[in-house]
Amino acid sequence: QNQSLPHVEGIDQSLALLKEGYLFIENRVNRFKLDIFEARVLGEKAIFMRGEEAAKIFYDSDKFQRKGAAPKRVQKTLFGKNAIQTLDGEEHLHRKLLFMSLLTPPNQKKLAELTTEHWEATLVRWENQESIVLFEEAKNILTSVVCKWAGVPLDESELTERADDFIAMIYSFGKIGPEHWQGRRARNRAEEWIRGVVELVRAGELEANSGTALYEMAFFEQPDGTRLDTQMAAVELINVLRPVVANATFITFAALALSQYKEQKQKLKTGTSDDMERFIHEVRRFYPFGPFLGARVRNNFTWNDVAFNKGTLVMLDIYGTNHDERIWGKPNEFNPERFKGWSGGLFAFIPHGGGDPAKGHRCPGEGVTLEVMKATLNFLVHKIEYDIPNQDLNYSLDQLPTLPKSGMELSNIRRL
Ligand code: HEM
Repeated sequence: QNQSLPHVEGIDQSLALLKEGYLFIENRVNRFKLDIFEARVLGEKAIFMRGEEAAKIFYDSDKFQRKGAAPKRVQKTLFGKNAIQTLDGEEHLHRKLLFMSLLTPPNQKKLAELTTEHWEATLVRWENQESIVLFEEAKNILTSVVCKWAGVPLDESELTERADDFIAMIYSFGKIGPEHWQGRRARNRAEEWIRGVVELVRAGELEANSGTALYEMAFFEQPDGTRLDTQMAAVELINVLRPVVANATFITFAALALSQYKEQKQKLKTGTSDDMERFIHEVRRFYPFGPFLGARVRNNFTWNDVAFNKGTLVMLDIYGTNHDERIWGKPNEFNPERFKGWSGGLFAFIPHGGGDPAKGHRCPGEGVTLEVMKATLNFLVHKIEYDIPNQDLNYSLDQLPTLPKSGMELSNIRRL
């Protein structure tokens, strides 16, 4: 046992972790009045930590590795087996460059334009419906949009099933029982589908344009000059498709913020694109999505008198760091203005992880998220008006990940 580290009593905290969800780390950090503690989870002793300084060391690749960090339950639902999230060193950097090359500003713009087109096309149907559920609409629209952008053929008749599978992969990693298994089945179905598409492209039976995610994943060369096997190519292509669809969650929270903070909506109506951007930053900081990240100690080291021994599992609190009072002042106030003149560096605002995405594991899709969210907010704020019928808008912090229960129902939608 680490002498200088508070230790949570009890054999295994896995159930407590699932039960307390986003607040598991924060509750104990508050109890111990220290940013770091030790507890047993999933059958081993792990170190939990939060805050900007903790994020800085977590992203030091001399100290930490990802190999062996992601539990099977996460690889079999959210990430895919042996995917980029589990790689280290040169192999990781080489593959990361591929993702970065697909998610450039011009490609972000293309995705955003497609997103705008799809929202506008859907409005025709909405005007003739009493109400819609925004989360349901967003997941379908984003699935259409990302498949089109990536060059992956998708028939209208399979849209809802494919979209539901992407969502099930995202929403099952922290669940137990049937909901968890639904996520594993969803991943198996999606991998089979995308393997088939990659095989057709490689056989020359399906045309793919160079520069699209489909083409670049299918023909990507590893450092040794070989291609990814079809399974790996499918897993990594899904690592581009699924997280675009995941924006349905932020879109739902953004609409919740618009209805909870009416003065903010008014501000966006007359405001600049900078106001829009600050609002999106605050949505990504304030509402819970990614809970925490895991890595393993690569080499023994000591930090703040705590010994980190090689092989130890270490978890970094994303939600807690985004709500750390020392960084954010009043963290539980929704206040986009806090991002005015923000120069907080790479390890304080970490909804997409910390550090430089080209050098470490930080999300390469932050720019895409921002652009897709801007296109969507523009539509919600400037193009339509709607009512918010009575519904259960609560989201619970003990569900990993979470969502407002109703999915955000909008009614009486009018074109502006
Ligand atoms: C990694 C969050 C959207 C692709 C990550 C990580 C987080 C994250 C927390 C882990 C960072 C780490 O392991 O250190 C989010 C959130 C999103 C989002 C909250 C909003 C919906 C996207 C988009 C894409 C994307 C739109 C691509 C189109 C990836 C990939 C990785 C990743 C490929 C693995 C990177 C690596 O291991 O090097 N994301 N992301 N994400 N994200 Fe995102």
